[in-house]
Amino acid sequence: MSYNTIHVEASRSYDILIGRNILPRIGEFIRPLVGECRIGLLTDSTVDTLYGEKIIEYLSDAGYNVCKFVVPAGEASKCAENLLDFLNFLAECKLTRSDAVVAFGGGVVGDMAGLSAALFLRGVKYIQIPTTLLSAVDSSVGGKTAIDIPAGKNLVGAFYQPSLVCCDTVLMDTLTPEIYRDGCAEVIKYGVILDKNLYDTLQNVPFDRESVVARCVEIKRDVVQQDEFDNGVRGLLNFGHTFGHAIEKLSNFGVSHGAAVAKGMLIAAKMAPLCGFCNVALELAALLEKYGFDLSCNYSADELYDAILSDKKRRGGEISVVLPRAIGDCILVTLPVEELYDKLKKVIG
Ligand code: GLY
Repeated sequence: MSYNTIHVEASRSYDILIGRNILPRIGEFIRPLVGECRIGLLTDSTVDTLYGEKIIEYLSDAGYNVCKFVVPAGEASKCAENLLDFLNFLAECKLTRSDAVVAFGGGVVGDMAGLSAALFLRGVKYIQIPTTLLSAVDSSVGGKTAIDIPAGKNLVGAFYQPSLVCCDTVLMDTLTPEIYRDGCAEVIKYGVILDKNLYDTLQNVPFDRESVVARCVEIKRDVVQQDEFDNGVRGLLNFGHTFGHAIEKLSNFGVSHGAAVAKGMLIAAKMAPLCGFCNVALELAALLEKYGFDLSCNYSADELYDAILSDKKRRGGEISVVLPRAIGDCILVTLPVEELYDKLKKVIG
């Protein structure tokens, strides 16, 4: 099977392989990176039911001894208790510093496996095998790892790059339409922030999965290479996320990440003209609706503002938001929080 290779130069450099039906070759892909080692595999209950036996078969056939740990599917699993249980499991399985962690799942599994790999024995190698569109185009790339704590989502984490990302797009065939659509929000995000050609391609629904995933990953790679530790341009990847995270939080995570980001991107697009930039809100709304996103916002400006104040992106009395200047061209704007409130009032009412 043919596949695309996208190389990332970061504190640890690695390849991202993207193709259809490449998972059976996982042993061949990881051998040059981890050698003969034991593998601590983290997955979730949904992925385990669908593909758990297959991944163990592929790795065992390649000579790997695999210890599998399964967490219930869903964001609630990305917690300190599961992190500690998995770390303890790795220790009980007698993994050593020359062994490796494999994340087999979506963002929850990828973020938690990555953080476990960063912490276990002060750092072991890890491999990302994303199974959702969202994790393929976003969370598996760039080395952000995290868990949630009661005070907020992703508040405990580390930058820790994987040794390989192996993205077999066939795994996305079994995603529910809602979970697939979550990833589409992030795909549309890449078009709006940095690539008008990609944005235009997305007008044809459904898009060609392999080429679109590869393009999104290239865009993210280029951003991460410029700003691995998120002190500048990487902030562009947060387009729609300041408002989206607030909506997720206000809904007690009843609104999924992608659905919230879609709403958040539209709020940002409506705010752009209030900051002197052009208005792409109508055309963005039309594209998001093509993908079936519900763009209504059930929260007031006051509710959103309160939720935004606890965002990681706030620095003292200022907060950064990403606003479109045109399709394919976004800018990070830092606003005093009071000014953000005034603009939110004008957008949301
Ligand atoms: N998900 C945004 C980032 O990786 O920076």
